[in-house]
Amino acid sequence: MSDTYVGAIDQGTTGTRFMVFDHGGQVVANAYTKHEQIYPEPGWVEHDAGEIWQNTKEVVLEGLNEAGLDAEQLEALGITNQRETTVVWDAETGEPIHNAIVWQDRRTTDRVEELQEADKVEWIREKTGLEADAYFSATKAEWLLENADPVGTDRGGDALEDRARNGELLMGTIDTWLIYNLTGNHITDVSNASRTMLYNVRDLEWDDELLEEFEIPRAMLPEVRPSSDENTYGYTDAGGFLGAEIPVAGALGDQQAALFGQTCFDAGDAKNTYGTGSFYLMNTGNEAVASDHGLLTTIGFQLSGEPVQYALEGSIFITGAAIEWLEDLELISDAAETAGLARSVDSTDGVYFVPAFTGLGAPHWDGRARGTIVGMTRGTRKEHLVRATLEAIAYQTRDVAEAMEADSGVETTSLRVDGGAVKNNFLCQLQADILQTEIVRPEVDETTALGSAYAAGLAVGYWEDLDSLRQNWHVDEDFQAERNRQEVDEKYDRWKDAVERSLNWAEDEG
Ligand code: G3P
Repeated sequence: MSDTYVGAIDQGTTGTRFMVFDHGGQVVANAYTKHEQIYPEPGWVEHDAGEIWQNTKEVVLEGLNEAGLDAEQLEALGITNQRETTVVWDAETGEPIHNAIVWQDRRTTDRVEELQEADKVEWIREKTGLEADAYFSATKAEWLLENADPVGTDRGGDALEDRARNGELLMGTIDTWLIYNLTGNHITDVSNASRTMLYNVRDLEWDDELLEEFEIPRAMLPEVRPSSDENTYGYTDAGGFLGAEIPVAGALGDQQAALFGQTCFDAGDAKNTYGTGSFYLMNTGNEAVASDHGLLTTIGFQLSGEPVQYALEGSIFITGAAIEWLEDLELISDAAETAGLARSVDSTDGVYFVPAFTGLGAPHWDGRARGTIVGMTRGTRKEHLVRATLEAIAYQTRDVAEAMEADSGVETTSLRVDGGAVKNNFLCQLQADILQTEIVRPEVDETTALGSAYAAGLAVGYWEDLDSLRQNWHVDEDFQAERNRQEVDEKYDRWKDAVERSLNWAEDEG
């Protein structure tokens, strides 16, 4: 019999990746494609969910094809995804009723302020572990039911909410959208459910009071399952695009998948992932630790038949996307140039860049913060701005790292990192200096895909247990702090001043 593997679909904010892994957690296939970013109005971000599904099919076939694999060689498929992004679709036709509203979208900021004014922030935090914010799915789904045009139906006249109540409309985050299209079943995993602001992370169920607050009918919500599910979420259709019946057996929000792929299985284990944004998560074991410093309490993962494991999370909205912005401005033509440009100057020459393009997440939670550059002079050059962009990534991480230490009481002496930007040695060294902490980069830096493959593979017995996964984790390189703490701290104080200037800037989110 030919060798068998586990496949992972990693549906991210900018594109969709398909990877295949072997028993050693090594990459056997890897294909990637981008999708369109739709900005209908300032502060709004949408994706075409139909395009995402189409790209998913293409990228899976391309990955298998390029690696010379047959779909039958996959023992299981895992899903990982950009979290919070919300899709509503017609249960009969499977067609979305509107573009997906992306996690970065700020259109519901006004609604969040209503919740703040009505003193509902603490109530929401107690139930969901989340900070009331437009980031999460609840206000996006509410907006869709109030505002989407019921396209492609002849049932005009029925309010969308009524249709949802009758089970005619389904809602999901991107994991759910993909599982539905792959298997026909309407399912999410606990880690994704915990990002909706509709799921009670202590009672582990959709919360009736929150559903009432946001007028979301329960009938449109998916069934919540463990992240690694021995019962599987369903099978791909032998008559479908893959031509084989493969169990879809694992799903994790992408940041939780990275935590899992980094084998952060025990309380106190932490990782930071550098993607469009950066997400610093620390496993807190079976305890849902409440934050007093602007972090989120979220579900890390759940294995079949086992209790949920929680995490504390520092969500930073814009890091890699700030480098993309430099590309958009044609200051650089490729992200890989940033290390050389930043190294070519000794410092930013007093420039600080707070890339609060979509507001600031943890630990500030200010939906009206906006991108701010301070300290420029006539002598400021592109190199300074590029360096300030990389420093902003590292400083934002320090903001959440300090909150994490204060909340958990655990001093981080070593941090596992992953995601596209950690290929940049300059950034890793900068991060070690700014955090004054060891930074450890593993051999397989696509830990997001790896984590969801692990979840699916554990479910079907491809991997036996967590220990066998731990043995697959190997260090590629580690970076020690080299700069003097006092000098770093002085600059970090200036950074905090720059952040103050970015707060509460946008006037109206419509
Ligand atoms: O919460 C948003 C996060 O899941 C997005 O991750 O990697 O697509 O930027 P990424």
